[in-house]
Amino acid sequence: MANPIILIVNGPNLNLLGKRQPEVYGHETLADIEAACIAHAAALGLEVEFRQSNHEGDLVDWIQGARGRAAGIIVNAGAYTHTSVAILDALLSAEVTCVEVHLSNIHQREEFRHHSFVSKAAKGMICGFGSHGYILALDALARLIRGS
Ligand code: DQA
Repeated sequence: MANPIILIVNGPNLNLLGKRQPEVYGHETLADIEAACIAHAAALGLEVEFRQSNHEGDLVDWIQGARGRAAGIIVNAGAYTHTSVAILDALLSAEVTCVEVHLSNIHQREEFRHHSFVSKAAKGMICGFGSHGYILALDALARLIRGS
């Protein structure tokens, strides 16, 4: 049987990782994170689909496409975390277990980053561990999928 699919969705400006405020977001590129996720997922018996867009509608389309197909979603919606009811609604409609990830600790930062619409649809949230947060999210989903 094919491995369960985990969709990993990344929002705006995350394509600039490695160059973008490395003191906040680290030195790894998004391609580095993708490679680490694919390798870790394979060890867990999972298959990763890794996506990034600067456009809100792309994220909504990918999340909609996960319904009935993916076993889990990992979302780092970037700045849309704090603004997007559309992404929240897509996650609620998808009915797929979601783990929210942020590289930085959003609660140590500006007030406007403290609220997350994504959190309302997420099983849990991991923030402040840099790129390792994606690995922790894969571990959490693997456990949830096996347990169900
Ligand atoms: C982020 C935190 C957001 O506030 C910010 O807009 C991002 C990245 C993070 O991974 O720490 O783009 O989601």
